[in-house]
Amino acid sequence: MDAGLRIPAERMEVNGLGLVVETEGDGPPILLVHGFPLDRTMWRHQMDALVGWRRIAPDLRGMGLSDAPDLGYSMAAYAEDLLQLLDRLEVDQAVLCGLSMGGYVAFELLRRARSRFRGLILMDTRAEADTPEGRRGREAMATAVRERGASAVAEALLPKLTAPGALEADPELAGRVRRMIEGTPVPGILGALTAMKDRPDSTDLLPSLAGLPTLVLGGDEDAITPPDGMAALAKAIPGARLEVIEGAGHLAPMERPEATTRAVRGFLTGLV
Ligand code: MLT
Repeated sequence: MDAGLRIPAERMEVNGLGLVVETEGDGPPILLVHGFPLDRTMWRHQMDALVGWRRIAPDLRGMGLSDAPDLGYSMAAYAEDLLQLLDRLEVDQAVLCGLSMGGYVAFELLRRARSRFRGLILMDTRAEADTPEGRRGREAMATAVRERGASAVAEALLPKLTAPGALEADPELAGRVRRMIEGTPVPGILGALTAMKDRPDSTDLLPSLAGLPTLVLGGDEDAITPPDGMAALAKAIPGARLEVIEGAGHLAPMERPEATTRAVRGFLTGLV
């Protein structure tokens, strides 16, 4: 779609704060939940290309252009924000798609309101809680962010987010990812680090997702949530389909947009 014809992002008051949300198209709804510390614009290709679906891409609290309060971050808070957002948009049921931290939010949404979702797409994510080492890593990152701001996250994460060499080969992609990270407000980054560090383990939830059509999708060069883990995640969800995106790292929808959108469309077509 011509960028000039885009429906501009809207700001909506939900759960006591302002969330920015972009909606595109008509049809059955799909809710796209971005990762850390990114924003709704990571879904640009899917927002443009998933014609026939009502695409809904919010900025989570503390990220993108949504409000970034100093306190109040948890998976429960992100999930409650999104449930209220669906209410405001008069969406009874949606397909739920989350990338990485967006997947953690998806698990929380399913714990709270499974009946609101008719399909699930988990991208480059994991069901396990943080390990003790992972928690220490979050604390170290929070210290660096307090000292040096969002660029500390960009320095630490950028080399790991994509397939090796992808950012060098594609300066436009590199610029987009860096701008998203560096544009994230510090309270939002600190809040997300706390929310991820404290998130519950979701492995027990997986068998109970039987009956919910599920696609698990990940890049074959993902260093953060590697392909073995994605295969194990798909195996643990009864009936889930696994799609591996070749040549993609942790950001499959941005690194290999056509292949990712094709896989998503194939899955969605089976739902209607
Ligand atoms: C993400 O991409 O959302 C993060 O890498 C998730 C995490 O740090 O666990």
